[in-house]
Amino acid sequence: MKKFVSLLLALALVLSVFAVATAEAPKKIGISMPTQSLERWNRDGSYLDEQFKAAGFETILTYSDNDAGRQVNDIQNMLADEVDLLIIAAIDGEALNTVMDEAANAGIPVISYDRLILNDAVSYYVSFDNYTVGKLQGQYVETALDLANAGDKTYVIEFTAGDPADNNAGYFFNGAYDVLKGYIDNGTVKVTSGQTAFQEVATAQWNTDTALNRAANILASYYADGTVLDAWVCSNDSTALGVAQAIESDYAGSNTIIVTGQDGDIANLANIVDGKQTMTVYKNVMNEAVVTLELAKAMLAGEVNGEELVKTFGVDCAYDTESYETSEGTKCPSFLLVPSVITKDNLNDLVATGLYVMGDDGYLKAAE
Ligand code: BGC
Repeated sequence: MKKFVSLLLALALVLSVFAVATAEAPKKIGISMPTQSLERWNRDGSYLDEQFKAAGFETILTYSDNDAGRQVNDIQNMLADEVDLLIIAAIDGEALNTVMDEAANAGIPVISYDRLILNDAVSYYVSFDNYTVGKLQGQYVETALDLANAGDKTYVIEFTAGDPADNNAGYFFNGAYDVLKGYIDNGTVKVTSGQTAFQEVATAQWNTDTALNRAANILASYYADGTVLDAWVCSNDSTALGVAQAIESDYAGSNTIIVTGQDGDIANLANIVDGKQTMTVYKNVMNEAVVTLELAKAMLAGEVNGEELVKTFGVDCAYDTESYETSEGTKCPSFLLVPSVITKDNLNDLVATGLYVMGDDGYLKAAE
């Protein structure tokens, strides 16, 4: 009898351990980031990873070295590891079709993170208002040069855009170009290189050296004779870094050229302090991670009411069901955060986010 009771007790123990294990099995989240070579994705990757872990999820985080084939592989491995939800910042918005179909067949929901994946299997899109990012850059130049009151004065501008494989790049470029187009059309603004089409000014993989080389070529070909350049509209910080370097070594003139950017990368913030870059459009990616976490929780609970959900984030974010299409005619419900302009004059706004600290040397650093 004693033996029987202890057998029963042992069985009960095994069963209860099993029950606890099943009840508490954490949901698994696959986080696929494009590359560690561009500063921001390291921040996104670690913020997402930390946030999800702190909320009790298990995570798999990968970086695919800007190689679209490798990203497909990384996502396939996540599916094989039976993730419950995927968060993907695509290297190439059109290269994930097969693996997105595989996710859909396995019933795994996908959040397109920051960059839209152009496949209908995407459930939701979390990003910033990308067109507004470009618009802020264009408006900065418009105001700084006072183009609206230029009269007979003319100004000279060049453009550098992002990676054509990244769906965001066109939004940034168009946002800026649309502000400046009227001035180009009426002759107030000249683009000496004549390069104003997105494909002409694009930068594969947002690569700093590629942007530098193109800028150096333009400066050598069109500005070596002393032609004055007033502004260089760069879509983001990694390209602005290259352009600023080219200006520093190859520009013949002595005026300060307005250089725009986006992200608030540490090297660019140093350039802003040093006057080599003029502004950056800041996107608080910690908030982007928070929105993604809250959305993922709602998705896994099977209850996403976009309009209601945005009210719970505690950060400025719009629920938009019109602006983004995964394919011809299929709108992707989107959660779009709000970008802001940072210049030398309001660097302290970054310190106020808690994500940066001001060093004794006057340069910003990432907070520990
Ligand atoms: C992001 C930008 C970033 C760029 C290059 C874009 O998709 O939205 O913030 O600068 O990729 O990494």
